[in-house]
Amino acid sequence: MIHIKIKNKSYGELNIFNNAELVINEGEFIAIKGPSGSGKTTLINIIGMLDQDYEGTYIFDGISLGDKYIKQYRKSFSYMFQTPFLIPYLNVYENIIMPLVNKGLKVTKPDLDNILKELNMLDKKYSNVNILSGGEKTRVSLARAIISDGKILVIDEPTGNLDPTHADIVIKSISRLRNLYNLTVIMVTHSNNFDHYYDRIVKIERGKLVDVN
Ligand SMILES: Nc1ncnc2c1ncn2[C@@H]1O[C@H](COP(=O)(O)OP(=O)(O)OP(=O)(O)O)[C@@H](O)[C@H]1O
Ligand SMILES: [Mg+2]
Repeated sequence: MIHIKIKNKSYGELNIFNNAELVINEGEFIAIKGPSGSGKTTLINIIGMLDQDYEGTYIFDGISLGDKYIKQYRKSFSYMFQTPFLIPYLNVYENIIMPLVNKGLKVTKPDLDNILKELNMLDKKYSNVNILSGGEKTRVSLARAIISDGKILVIDEPTGNLDPTHADIVIKSISRLRNLYNLTVIMVTHSNNFDHYYDRIVKIERGKLVDVN
């Protein structure tokens, strides 16, 4: 489905990727690992078509992406960013449906309440997001990504500020919802506790991408 070759990605003098290659098949659950600063967020911004500022090629469903296709294919993605980026004057529910509202779409996934329940957030559905804890904000941003319409979910470190119990809940939810909605999931994580959930683990090593299992 996706075949990316990053010949060179640098920020000024700082080289992040050189001749890194990644294939993503439809329906896969892929974990991206690597030390802090190795380029995980950079990589998923490239995968999610948010960053085109690199030397290389991106093939999506057999089509080589130039500028003119990016907009069309970016719709395939839903994002959960490392920082939740919630809208402070909207409540939890309004934040979650925001990407759909922006696109003029309705909520088509019927189980939003189930998702919130699973994430232990149902009782906060109408709370203002300002009062939420860091871990609760993370879970709202995950629910927002899942309820959105993209078939490919790009997730940046969902368990970073969660305790082990909630980290487990979050990864289980991602795994279940991925099966339910036939999503492809590319997820950045530092944790080694959930490796059995992934189809593949890809590690960033000295600017290259290496399959580890
Ligand atoms: N826009 C930018 N301009 C300059 N340097 C950048 C930019 N974005 C990222 N970097 C640098 O590139 C490197 C890789 O950043 P990136 O955010 O991809 O790392 P990461 O693997 O996601 O790290 P973490 O685990 O801490 O989130 C870092 O050294 C970062 O400071
Ligand atoms: Mg990062």
